[in-house]
Amino acid sequence: MTQSIDQPILSVRGLKTHFDLREGLIKAVDGVDLDVKRGKTLCIVGESGSGKSMMAKSVLQIVGGPGRVVAGSMVFSRDGIKSVDIAGLDPKGKEIRAIRGRDIAMIFQEPMNSLSPVHTIGDQLVEKILLHHRIAPRQAIERTVDALDRVGIPDPRRRLASYPFELSGGMRQRVMIAMALACRPAMLIADEPTTALDVTTQANILELIKELQQETSMGVMFITHDLGVVAEIADEVAVMYLGRVVERGSVDDIFYRPQHPYTLALLDSIPKLGARHTAGQRLKAIEGMVPHPLNRPEGCPFNTRCREAAAGLCDRIEPSLRELGPAHLAACHMRDPQYAGVKARMEA
Ligand SMILES: Nc1ncnc2c1ncn2[C@@H]1O[C@H](COP(=O)(O)OP(=O)(O)OP(=O)(O)O)[C@@H](O)[C@H]1O
Ligand code: SF4
Ligand SMILES: [Mg+2]
Repeated sequence: MTQSIDQPILSVRGLKTHFDLREGLIKAVDGVDLDVKRGKTLCIVGESGSGKSMMAKSVLQIVGGPGRVVAGSMVFSRDGIKSVDIAGLDPKGKEIRAIRGRDIAMIFQEPMNSLSPVHTIGDQLVEKILLHHRIAPRQAIERTVDALDRVGIPDPRRRLASYPFELSGGMRQRVMIAMALACRPAMLIADEPTTALDVTTQANILELIKELQQETSMGVMFITHDLGVVAEIADEVAVMYLGRVVERGSVDDIFYRPQHPYTLALLDSIPKLGARHTAGQRLKAIEGMVPHPLNRPEGCPFNTRCREAAAGLCDRIEPSLRELGPAHLAACHMRDPQYAGVKARMEA
């Protein structure tokens, strides 16, 4: 059984996705390392512009021009036996098109982008299933009805004839999720799929993803700004800043043993988990602004906002991810024993 195989479904190493613009080079993703495991959920967090969506799009080779994957590997293994490096595939080629949709499904915040406005829900879902599976059209229709039912669409058989514009935002989101999950992908990439939805629909959809994950051992990469959602669904967390993963570990490592000053600042910016929201309670913003991507700081990308930054070190040398505990990594000089002397002098 593939479920017992330890090899990650997706192993990303040194991924760089750059935009070569007339104004300069934008390093949207600049050396990302992460793994998505079978049956597990990896949450990606980080402020706006940290490269979360570009990293996700890189995995499917759908970065629009002039963006381009310029370095790194993205080794994908559906069954834990055979594997393929997606970074080496032609973005327009047959192989990546077969992986997209059949092996790795993606759901976005705005469902209208992935649903055709001129075809019925039924036609779109049936066509997608027929594209990836050798089954009779009648069976594909039954599978479609089942998929719509699973995502909580009332009277799914009748809904086959509806067009996307005839559905509410929440229903469209469910249809998109049904479409993503109908082919039983090995992996799901969800880029803030529930941000625009009301709390109840959001909870239902998270529950549905979890259920399907348990049934099929699907690996999930879930991008969100909402640390409450992270606490609820993540097995592992990767924190991104300016195109890099600055800390990753188990959900407990990140919430209870955070190490990177950026992770600490992110956690500090939310009301304590579990604390009751009181009227007027505001999220604290992290001090300072994310630098413009054309103005990437030298050295550690976070040094312009970091309270612990050591002049002469943090603004010169970029820290790399180091293991601090089992499968818990952070990229910070102040957590590196090599620089313990610098830290001690700063604290003196
Ligand atoms: N088409 C583009 N041309 C040039 N730069 C781009 C383009 N798309 C994205 N970028 C840049 O890539 C960087 C990463 O963007 P990305 O959309 O991945 O961030 P994000 O973490 O998903 O943010 P958000 O939380 O707002 O969705 C940003 O600096 C952005 O300006
Ligand atoms: S390397 Fe320096 S600037 Fe970067 S997070 Fe650590 S202390 Fe802060
Ligand atoms: Mg995004």
